[in-house]
Amino acid sequence: MSAPETLGALQRWLREQLTDIGVDDPSGDARVLLSGLLGVQPVVLLLESQRALQAGEFDQVVAALERRKRREPVHRILGRREFYGLDLALSAATLEPRPDTEILVDHVFPHLQRVIERKGRAEVLDLGTGTGAILLALLSECAEAFGTAVDISAAALETATENARATQVAGRFRAVESDWFEKIEGRFDIIVSNPPYITTAVVAGLAPEVRDYDPAAALDGGADGLDAYRRIAEGAAAHLEEDGILGVEIGFDQKASVSALFEAAGFSCLEAAKDYGGQDRVLIFTR
Ligand SMILES: C[S@@+](CC[C@H](N)C(=O)[O-])C[C@H]1O[C@@H](n2cnc3c(N)ncnc32)[C@H](O)[C@@H]1O
Repeated sequence: MSAPETLGALQRWLREQLTDIGVDDPSGDARVLLSGLLGVQPVVLLLESQRALQAGEFDQVVAALERRKRREPVHRILGRREFYGLDLALSAATLEPRPDTEILVDHVFPHLQRVIERKGRAEVLDLGTGTGAILLALLSECAEAFGTAVDISAAALETATENARATQVAGRFRAVESDWFEKIEGRFDIIVSNPPYITTAVVAGLAPEVRDYDPAAALDGGADGLDAYRRIAEGAAAHLEEDGILGVEIGFDQKASVSALFEAAGFSCLEAAKDYGGQDRVLIFTR
């Protein structure tokens, strides 16, 4: 067939190609890819469906389709993903932030505000920051919040630092390369973490979009999926202010096991929240 000549024809063509290769959501992928590649809002694809394609646009889409055929997720192809209204850069070293993680931000946010009302400012520690998603969302919402982003991956911290600059919070953001609390000193009002929590056995069977593109260090939580929570629970009391809170994202079946780990370390569960699919996803602890 001849190459599409208008934006609308290009979108239809891409949708058909994506359907043929069997991706889960060909319409959604076509919309996100096209709007991202062309740098326009999705609604423009509708409003300007008769617009003639410009030089290079079709080739750009063909190159992206080739990557999608290898199961690279659309946001990785674009190199960016929106989280909590922030446009974040991704890299090979960072997890692609997921919408469910916004629930952790939502549940931590009132505690952050409470600290700021009382003290005028708050110190936040994000363990396993990746793109910086959770911390940058909190810092963007609260000008009086100051953040420390920890990751074991120096490359992830570079991406998080780039995102802190782009979201204009770099003055309140610092990155520390550390194995959980190892290089961390002092106490924080809020500790947050979305650590790797998938069991090693399950990682191998994940969809290729996740298994082959999210970094293993961001996924693999060890034999029972709880390795990171054990380390965080061990170190948290020495790094959390007396009236501080600790919020973690968890796997759908980890509410009881993660609660037990933190309770054994002297914490009690203040709140538990479910994700958009009705699964347990967030726990908030106090000392
Ligand atoms: C599930 S990802 C979460 C990324 C980001 N916070 C988010 O929610 O999108 C877990 C992160 O923990 C980091 N990580 C894994 N092991 C670590 C360790 N021992 N110490 C510090 N960070 C670690 C990974 O590099 C990864 O960035």
